[in-house]
Amino acid sequence: MQVHIVPDAAAGGALVADLFEEVIREAGEAGAVLGLATGSSPLTAYAELIRRHRERGLSFAHSRAFTLDEYVGLSGDHPQSYRRFIHEHLVDQVDLPASAVDTPDGAAADPDLEAIAYERRLQDAGGVDLQILGIGSNGHIAFNEPGSDRASRTRVVDLAPSTIADNARFFGDPSQVPVRAISQGLGTLAEARRIVLTASGAGKAEAIAHLLEGEMTDQWPATALQQHPQVTVVVDEAAASRLTRSDARHS
Ligand code: GLP
Repeated sequence: MQVHIVPDAAAGGALVADLFEEVIREAGEAGAVLGLATGSSPLTAYAELIRRHRERGLSFAHSRAFTLDEYVGLSGDHPQSYRRFIHEHLVDQVDLPASAVDTPDGAAADPDLEAIAYERRLQDAGGVDLQILGIGSNGHIAFNEPGSDRASRTRVVDLAPSTIADNARFFGDPSQVPVRAISQGLGTLAEARRIVLTASGAGKAEAIAHLLEGEMTDQWPATALQQHPQVTVVVDEAAASRLTRSDARHS
């Protein structure tokens, strides 16, 4: 894994945006398949991509995109749905066609069937060229909570109590916080050709230490990425504060 320790979120966003730009340019008119994540971690990267689109003409017109996950029970236009999030924070602000962005349908009548169908749509698109990931404080990636199988595919998952608690701040009424999600599996994520994981803040330090210096264990799901040949990790000083080795590159 390549590790970059950056001074602030903007520097991290620029590094991540460089990777997206490279993948988009390499794919040319054939179009890149982008794996998009929600949460606060990717926001500076998305802001930088929007800036490059507006100021430098970086185009997403040939790209396609898949998101990681969606809450079960929320339709795509619910204010807290991940579909709405990704449209607001990236898709609607660049020239990525809305029809080229796929998200699991959280309001599907049968979420288990939707999970299987979503996995198939992703495979049919040829898989993801570059996947951006955040990380939960408990080490989850997408919504693969501790205990997730390393070979897991897109499926309906129960959210960990700590994740439900973390998410509660976004929902006015605690009884409205979803307790299940459709999430790409660890096995699905492992097939992305390139992965960039970004994290900031001391709350992520333990998870980052496990990812970069811990044993591979299903109790820290992100450690599954240790087996992947092309992972870049972009963290700020606070998220890197529990690392003990010194092979990370300060950018
Ligand atoms: C959610 C998402 C994850 C994300 C995590 C961390 O649980 N399913 O994909 O990485 O939150 O969010 P944040 O980046 O806001 O800290």
